[in-house]
Amino acid sequence: MKVSDALASRITVRQFLDTPVPLETVKELIEASKRAPSGGNLQPWNVHVMTGAPLKALVDDVADKLQEGVSETPEYNVYPPELVDPYKTRRRVVGQALYDLIGVPREDTPGKLKQLSRNFRFFDAPVGLFFVLHRQMEIGQYADVGMFMQSIMLLAREHGLHTCPQEAWARWPDTVRAHLKLADHEMLFCGMALGYMDETALINDLRTERETFENFVTLHGFDDVE
Ligand SMILES: Cc1cc2nc3c(=O)[nH]c(=O)nc-3n(C[C@H](O)[C@H](O)[C@H](O)COP(=O)(O)O)c2cc1C
Repeated sequence: MKVSDALASRITVRQFLDTPVPLETVKELIEASKRAPSGGNLQPWNVHVMTGAPLKALVDDVADKLQEGVSETPEYNVYPPELVDPYKTRRRVVGQALYDLIGVPREDTPGKLKQLSRNFRFFDAPVGLFFVLHRQMEIGQYADVGMFMQSIMLLAREHGLHTCPQEAWARWPDTVRAHLKLADHEMLFCGMALGYMDETALINDLRTERETFENFVTLHGFDDVE
């Protein structure tokens, strides 16, 4: 598969089949992705990969806590509290498109929360990954982990697999920490669901827009060389 095909076919999948992903495949994805660049070659990523009983224990634990109305202080603010435009609008548009697609009305807060809670089952994916960094790390290292994650997501396409990167897991830092036995200096950055897409699930029909080139690229000096 060409990189451009992997890029074009990578979408966020929010309903997976229960078809297992072999450990060999997971290893291949991670081994190849470790070639991702990182400032100073710090390789600041640490990855926890879950499947089977440990994954079930985690998602059941969160489900019980949601049922009891328990919540945790998020590991970090995923979005700025006062998100400005055009970002605020983009976020609203994609959220609305998702809820419209699955028929959850604007005012149906419980319906929206139910969909959000699907994150904490990894959307039924057989494999869940967690990306963990040393708390000491700065902005640059978060970008490095992002590149590492994108490498996994693109390589997954070569194997016919799909992914969902999941910042939502930052809402359950204490529970995830307990299940993964993280040390105090380890910071939960992001989760990721990995598996085979359920092609019949309506939610996987979501296709998102991107801004036009002119609206986010500023060219300098190209007139001179044309
Ligand atoms: C770092 C990161 C975290 C994300 N966290 C979540 C999440 O917690 N739950 C979710 O459903 N989607 C999550 N997404 C998916 C985005 O909503 C999605 O990438 C965006 O809407 C563009 O759609 P596409 O991935 O299908 O192109 C996340 C994406 C990224 C890059």
